Amino acid sequence: MADALTALLQWYAAMGVDIALDALPHDRFADSEAAKNAKQQPQAKAVPADDPPRSSSRLPSPSPESKPQAAFSQSAEETTASAMTLEELRAKLDAFQGCGLKNTATQLVFADGNPQSQIMIIGEAPGADEDRQGRPFVGRAGQLLDRMLAAIDLDRNQVYIANIVPWRPPGNRTPTTVEIAACLPFIRRQIELVSPRFLICLGAPSAQTLLGTKEAITRLRGRWREWTCGGKTIQVLPMLHPAYLLRQPAQKKLAWADLRLLAKALRQQQPPVK
Ligand code: URA
Repeated sequence: MADALTALLQWYAAMGVDIALDALPHDRFADSEAAKNAKQQPQAKAVPADDPPRSSSRLPSPSPESKPQAAFSQSAEETTASAMTLEELRAKLDAFQGCGLKNTATQLVFADGNPQSQIMIIGEAPGADEDRQGRPFVGRAGQLLDRMLAAIDLDRNQVYIANIVPWRPPGNRTPTTVEIAACLPFIRRQIELVSPRFLICLGAPSAQTLLGTKEAITRLRGRWREWTCGGKTIQVLPMLHPAYLLRQPAQKKLAWADLRLLAKALRQQQPPVK
């Protein structure tokens, strides 16, 4: 019996089901059907004059999740603009309720490396290892990233690393456009505060979001682009994501070509740390 249960758990993990959200299976179709029916009910019922008034404490207060996404986006813009340091931004992100990923992640994964660096690297989203440790790129993809940096004589103390989304999506799925949009004001402000000269976007979600394009990463990679953030022009280099390179090792030659572009740009500029 124990062996069968272990085998079942291993199969779940291999399929990407690696967190339990509920003790019992949850019928999401029934939920959305119920929500649809509730919407079709008449909104206000006439209350007989002699009904006892309800104490306001019994009225459910609207949960943060029930607020429209637009309200969160607006408040995220206002919140991030008032963050004057990375520490303040981190605290505001930790308190932010506008992205559902926060509810399933273990913790916020804000950044790693050197905030004084000229090079900022932006990945997609934390995975299981990052979620456990609270630091970006510490799993297998992160170890490959370390080796890629070492190939051009860089290490984590010479770069600053963050993700487009700072909470782990369940089962390591790609973050949705809604989740990315909710977190976008935060990563934009993080870039403004770090104010790097070079921005390396690892993978499609990072490159496409920041450059505002749907072009495939295979077409975006391989050349520098300019992007203006906080009134400053930043050189952006989209690259293939290390997790993709682990699955497609033959593509490492493209990543090596991109790393050489970065190394060349650094030789022509100041040292990587300001
Ligand atoms: N992949 C990412 O994009 N970010 C991480 O932090 C880890 C893996």
